[in-house]
Amino acid sequence: MEKLAIAGGRPVTESKPAPWPVIGDSEKENLLQVLESGKWWYGEKVRRFESEYASFQNAKYGVSCMNGSMALEMGLLACGISEGDEVIIPPYTFLATATAVIRVNAVPVFADISLSTCNLDPADVERKITPRTRAIMPVHFAGLPADMDALKAVAAKHSLAIIEDACHSWGSQWKGKGTGAIGDCGVFSFQMSKNITAGEGGILLTDNEEIAEIARSYSNCGRLPNRHNYQHFLPGGNMRMTEMQAAMHICNEACWIPQTALLGDSKDMQDIADAVEKVWEQRDALAAMGE
Ligand SMILES: Cc1ncc(COP(=O)(O)O)c(C=O)c1O
Repeated sequence: MEKLAIAGGRPVTESKPAPWPVIGDSEKENLLQVLESGKWWYGEKVRRFESEYASFQNAKYGVSCMNGSMALEMGLLACGISEGDEVIIPPYTFLATATAVIRVNAVPVFADISLSTCNLDPADVERKITPRTRAIMPVHFAGLPADMDALKAVAAKHSLAIIEDACHSWGSQWKGKGTGAIGDCGVFSFQMSKNITAGEGGILLTDNEEIAEIARSYSNCGRLPNRHNYQHFLPGGNMRMTEMQAAMHICNEACWIPQTALLGDSKDMQDIADAVEKVWEQRDALAAMGE
């Protein structure tokens, strides 16, 4: 094995990362439009972003919000997860996957990741199921989908919900269907380091109308459509996306694929991809030695 860079070995890359974020005239124009319109919340731009992003990932409904962490909470609450319920998650993720579970008073339970996907191992998920398990929350780490066929089979066998943490997987698909639209619901983050960003932002996607309505209500102070603004039906919070955020996301739409491709083409990313390839080779060699 090569010497690690931290121990004086050759670094994986010495080139500078691609410049980020990418902005153009359309961001400036759209933001100015919102500023001058005087309509700064829950307007046409938010609605347009929700429907366009949902269709980008092949989902029927999109419910936007402030960030991916809030979207995870909305997903858990909309799937009925509450006090004492256990939710199986991978340990290989950002901390929000676990803290979202804790914040709805449920208990995160770790299952191992599998070497073939670097994501939740369906066999270990099944081993971690107890009478209190209510949901599985796979993470599609770094855009690589978890094995959704196997996880769905485990979920169906034990009547569990699946809430996908798709915060890294804009544009990813599993057998022709966008990630985030495969389980009961899935969520995305548009925080600053993500390929699609407005500084902050999040969305929940689902094909289930009821989950979409409950998530919307949780994100909008417990309100329901066509009811008085001061009628509140759930103990929801204010997690609404602003028109400014949505205006930037809509501009990003033209770049959703090109931006990802741009990163994929950069020398930096190529170096990293080569290094990852080497790790896979070493892993296969180690696995062969163990057999
Ligand atoms: C896997 C994963 N889940 C959840 C989140 C939370 O998203 P946000 O930072 O938008 O709250 C992130 C953000 O980096 C993430 O990487």
